Amino acid sequence: LPGPDVAALTRASVRATLPRPAAASDKYRRGVVGVVAGSDQYTGAAVLAVGGALHAGAGMVRYAGPSRPVGQVRARWPEAVVTELDEPSIDDVGRVQAWVLGPGLGTGRWARELVLRVLATDVPVLVDADGLNVVAHDVSLLRRTAPVLITPHAGELARLTGAARGDIEAAPLAHARAAAAELGVTVLLKGSTTVVAEEGEPARVNGTGTPWLATGGTGDVLSGIAGSLLAQGLGARDAGSCAAYLHGLAGRIAADGAPLTAAAVAEALPAAIRSLDEES
Ligand code: APR
Ligand code: MG
Repeated sequence: LPGPDVAALTRASVRATLPRPAAASDKYRRGVVGVVAGSDQYTGAAVLAVGGALHAGAGMVRYAGPSRPVGQVRARWPEAVVTELDEPSIDDVGRVQAWVLGPGLGTGRWARELVLRVLATDVPVLVDADGLNVVAHDVSLLRRTAPVLITPHAGELARLTGAARGDIEAAPLAHARAAAAELGVTVLLKGSTTVVAEEGEPARVNGTGTPWLATGGTGDVLSGIAGSLLAQGLGARDAGSCAAYLHGLAGRIAADGAPLTAAAVAEALPAAIRSLDEES
């Protein structure tokens, strides 16, 4: 896989790129991330995306959604600042430095309205899962001035580009590159091999993952991590790269040779970040 246009993600590069709080930092300067995810049908995606964002170092996580996921996010993560939405609007959520958009959002009118409003803001947006399913009918929605990082699995990328899912799985690097150029966004393509592609830049391949990550909800945690890193000021390519690397490492730590849960991946993130500085 490695060649002139692709590099493996390394611990040294992630250690050098990952933001650390300055001595005089405060929670606002460390980055505020807004999470627009979950629905009354899919509450867990909201809990897991918020969990990923909280453990990846943002100064504050704001969550906005309908009553059922709001109740679960409040119960599980008292650290999050929560806004219950009666209407699909983000006007009352407060200022954020980046958004996580899509996990468990659904694809009906509510979801479509929220997707339009979040993409209309002037800050970076991480788009995943149902956020991608909503924009699949008009991918020009992804073209905006502020950065866009998308985190599809092969099936979601197939809906965005029209390529066949099997073809994407057989050649993830080529398809991630082509999608980045065609859509004008940074692409983190998930799967047994995870790649990060941006037009005009060498692609990056992550090798830290484990097949134990193939369990429901781990993708939602990855969304929260990547959005948290965008809010902390990383560009889309670096945010995607560090998120993929740390998510894989946290998966290894959480699994340790046995099944993991998605929530355990979020909770293993601090250990993964700590391990960047260890001798090896
Ligand atoms: N080896 C390493 N990592 C893997 C492997 C593997 N064999 N299989 C999966 N993974 C990782 C992926 O790279 C990704 O980070 O597990 C994560 C799975 O993410 P998703 O595919 O988004 O799955 P999930 O979290 O279950 O998504 C929840 O959202 O995207 C929708 O349709 C999806 O209903 C599902 C929901
Ligand atoms: Mg997913």
